[in-house]
Amino acid sequence: MADRTEVVRVDRLVKDFRPGFGVRRKRVLHGISFGVRRGEIFGFVGPNGAGKTTTLKVLMGLIRPSAGSATILGHDVRETEFRRHVGFLPENPYFYDHLSGREILSFYARLCGVRGSERARRVNTLLRWVGLSSAADARLRTYSKGMQQRVGIAQALVHDPDVVFLDEPMSGLDPIGRKEIRDLILRLRAEGKTVFMNTHILSDVEMVCDRVAIIVNGRIRYEGAIEEFLQTGDRDTDIVLSGLPVDAATLLEESVAAQLRGLGERIEVRVSEKAVRDVLRIAMEAGAEVVSLTPHRVSLESIFLSAVEGDAG
Ligand SMILES: Nc1ncnc2c1ncn2[C@@H]1O[C@H](COP(=O)(O)OP(=O)(O)OP(=O)(O)O)[C@@H](O)[C@H]1O
Ligand SMILES: [Mg+2]
Repeated sequence: MADRTEVVRVDRLVKDFRPGFGVRRKRVLHGISFGVRRGEIFGFVGPNGAGKTTTLKVLMGLIRPSAGSATILGHDVRETEFRRHVGFLPENPYFYDHLSGREILSFYARLCGVRGSERARRVNTLLRWVGLSSAADARLRTYSKGMQQRVGIAQALVHDPDVVFLDEPMSGLDPIGRKEIRDLILRLRAEGKTVFMNTHILSDVEMVCDRVAIIVNGRIRYEGAIEEFLQTGDRDTDIVLSGLPVDAATLLEESVAAQLRGLGERIEVRVSEKAVRDVLRIAMEAGAEVVSLTPHRVSLESIFLSAVEGDAG
């Protein structure tokens, strides 16, 4: 289980890009801060263009921040020595497709200094681990997208890192492929690894992540447990009533700002959570029957949309 120790710390990170000579610089990260705890699956979530990959590139030491700092396992990301404890799956990785899965993994294992018979053993273990043993000697060009992504994850694990960074590990996969990757990520956590993943696929976030940071237009909108996030805010509730007299319906619209919708004999009333008691009282007193009551969860979609609209306005 996750302890409180922070494995990744990002502090007031700013990144400006200069698109070209004489062109105004563009601020992509506006001083973001967040932390990833040991042993958790951390989702870095945001819509396209939010700054997820840019942040990950800073963490991987591929680009330099304009201001602020980032550390992994207590080391500044500009250091190199600690990198052997870090695995990385880039966004849309490309592997030579005339090589087999076994050859690719062997190649990366060699790069990481895994030698001789130990290398063959490691590669076999990884192939088994990602479920590619039977396809190990087929060329990558014959692999499905899901299989290629599993090779990518195996590649990120060749040196048995403590922390694994995955940029959009489920993108472009069908539901089965996504489930396979989700299961692998959960197994990484079970083995005590810390996983950082970038994603904009909200259902995957809900299924695997322990905590998230939500980034929109280069600013963090939320950091914390996903359940807490989904429970916050004033949620709408739908109440379906039958036998509601017209005057009671009017009263509902006027007194609690309910939105009413006819469903044949029934009426659906949408109100904010805090008005639910009043609606039930008015309905019961008018002799109506309560058919159902459905609280809506705040969805990540709605947060994305409102944040994006907020920024535009
Ligand atoms: N080298 C660069 N030069 C100029 N602008 C860049 C550069 N790299 C990224 N950007 C811009 O920075 C913003 C954030 O891009 P980034 O790739 O980090 O987003 P993202 O959250 O990973 O999006 P996606 O979900 O599409 O992968 C975008 O507006 C992008 O156009
Ligand atoms: Mg990206």
